[in-house]
Amino acid sequence: MNETYTNITEPELRALAARIAEGLTPGSILALTGDLGAGKTVFAKAVAAALGVTETVTSPTFTLVKEYESGRLPFYHFDVYRIEAPDETEMAGFAEYFFGGGVSAVEWANNIAGFIPDSAIRVDIAYGDAPDTRTVIVSEGLC
Ligand SMILES: Nc1ncnc2c1ncn2[C@@H]1O[C@H](COP(=O)(O)OP(=O)(O)O)[C@@H](O)[C@H]1O
Ligand SMILES: [Mg+2]
Repeated sequence: MNETYTNITEPELRALAARIAEGLTPGSILALTGDLGAGKTVFAKAVAAALGVTETVTSPTFTLVKEYESGRLPFYHFDVYRIEAPDETEMAGFAEYFFGGGVSAVEWANNIAGFIPDSAIRVDIAYGDAPDTRTVIVSEGLC
């Protein structure tokens, strides 16, 4: 699967996230990439909402991962912005989430690219042609 959504609005990006969320199963991983302010957190929050997470989802920047258990599947929200050189021990901890019973969404997944399983759904968000638009590429499988 390799789909491109060009110059979509924020509500459209949220709707895309919600549609993708419908197909997620235990162990699904969303690898989110894109510059600061691209919309990775917006996307992750929309996934959480679609999974039925009722808690407020806040950016896990200083904790690396936050867990939410109130949805139809556990939701693990990672933000690995701060990670420059992945630490093997830390990554082994991450793997327990990735292969666990929930859905992982990883912001700045490119920072730990070698540790993201090939089975991940990659979502790359770039700025669009107008300030409030984004171009999103969703891809699955080996590229
Ligand atoms: N089309 C769009 N899709 C997603 N976010 C958008 C869009 N247009 C404007 N925005 C804004 O861009 C910002 C994205 O922020 P955020 O999701 O925190 O980015 P990131 O996590 O990638 O750093 C939000 O303030 C959001 O309201
Ligand atoms: Mg973010």
